[in-house]
Amino acid sequence: MSERLRSVVEQLDLRPDDRVLEIGCGHGVAATLVCERLEEGRLTTVDRSAKMIQAATRRNAAYIEAGRAEFLVATLEDLDVRDRRFDKIFAVRVGLFHRDPERARSIVERWLASGGAVFVFSTRHQYRVHRSDRNRVPAAGLDWRTRQTGGKSL
Ligand SMILES: C[S@@+](CC[C@H](N)C(=O)[O-])C[C@H]1O[C@@H](n2cnc3c(N)ncnc32)[C@H](O)[C@@H]1O
Repeated sequence: MSERLRSVVEQLDLRPDDRVLEIGCGHGVAATLVCERLEEGRLTTVDRSAKMIQAATRRNAAYIEAGRAEFLVATLEDLDVRDRRFDKIFAVRVGLFHRDPERARSIVERWLASGGAVFVFSTRHQYRVHRSDRNRVPAAGLDWRTRQTGGKSL
C-alpha cells in the first residue's frame, strides 16, 4: 500500500459519514483507504480514463458491492453531480488543478456541502504554483486547502 496515498487520506480528516468525491483516482488506491474509513458515508470517484476506472473498480469491488463507493468515467470538466453535495473533495496529481487552478476550483466548489473542504495534493514542484496563489481568499464558507505530500516520489 502506498505510503504517499496513506498520508494523503490521513490528511482528509474523514468522518465515518462523510460524502467524499475523488477526482482522478487512477488505480483506486486512495479510494480503498477512504472506503476503509467510511461507515454511513459514501465515496464517488471519477477518472477520465476508462482503463483506470476499470482497474479501480476491480480493486474496490467489495466496497462497490456494499454500496459504499462508485467509480465513474468522467472528466472533472464534464462531470454532472446534479444536486449532490460532498463534505470532502480531493484530487492527487491531477493536471487541471495545477495548470488552471482557478478553473478547477470554480468547478468543484459548487459541489461542496456547507462546511465542506477541497484538498489538492501535488508534487513539490507543482505545489509552488499553488504557493504563489496562496493569498487568494477562498469563497465564503469554503475551505480550500492545498497540501504537499512531499518529494519526488509523489
Ligand atoms: C497522475 S495520475 C494520479 C492518480 C492518483 N490520483 C495517484 O496519485 O496515484 C492522474 C489521474 O487523473 C486522471 N485525470 C487527469 N485529468 C483529469 C480530469 N480532467 N478529469 C478526470 N480525471 C482526470 C488521469 O486519467 C489519471 O488517472
